[in-house]
Amino acid sequence: MNSIEKKARYEKTLSSIEEMIDGEEDLTAVLSSVSCELYHAFDHWNWVGFYRRIDERTLKVGPYQGGHGCLTIDRDRGVCGACLREKSILLVKDVSKVKDHIACSSETKSEIVLPIIGNSGTVLAVFDLDSTEIGAFDETDQEYLSKVVAWIRPVYDRDPTRYAEGN
Ligand code: SME
Repeated sequence: MNSIEKKARYEKTLSSIEEMIDGEEDLTAVLSSVSCELYHAFDHWNWVGFYRRIDERTLKVGPYQGGHGCLTIDRDRGVCGACLREKSILLVKDVSKVKDHIACSSETKSEIVLPIIGNSGTVLAVFDLDSTEIGAFDETDQEYLSKVVAWIRPVYDRDPTRYAEGN
């Protein structure tokens, strides 16, 4: 998929997501809808979803769409753990080159993870997207997926079940 096609696919998908979640305050409804719409928009993606932070060091899977996902990820492990620690977007062009990558599926070749950070600066969750192609994610994905994170963030921050203890 070239860059123009990718942008067009994102524009279409994000406009339907925006319309769908507009005014929705239920966090599970928002996270499920985002996972579903994005997962089905790109053929070369095999996992789209969230790791919710449940305490200082633990991420729990879901909602998500795709293949098997590890249920629990510690902050010291994997690309998701690094995203939590570093509070930054990470793009992995080839997961086989990252020794800390947690291989939930042997089909996954590349990934992008984005932190969802609340107003207090606390990481609330990690948004994880995996692809069956090497180097599937670039600045375009980062740009559009950051928009989605910006829509999710205020809903997440208002959710009473979110982790809100510290950074
Ligand atoms: N990519 C993650 C593991 C989660 S699964 O791929 C769904 C990681 O290495 O943190």
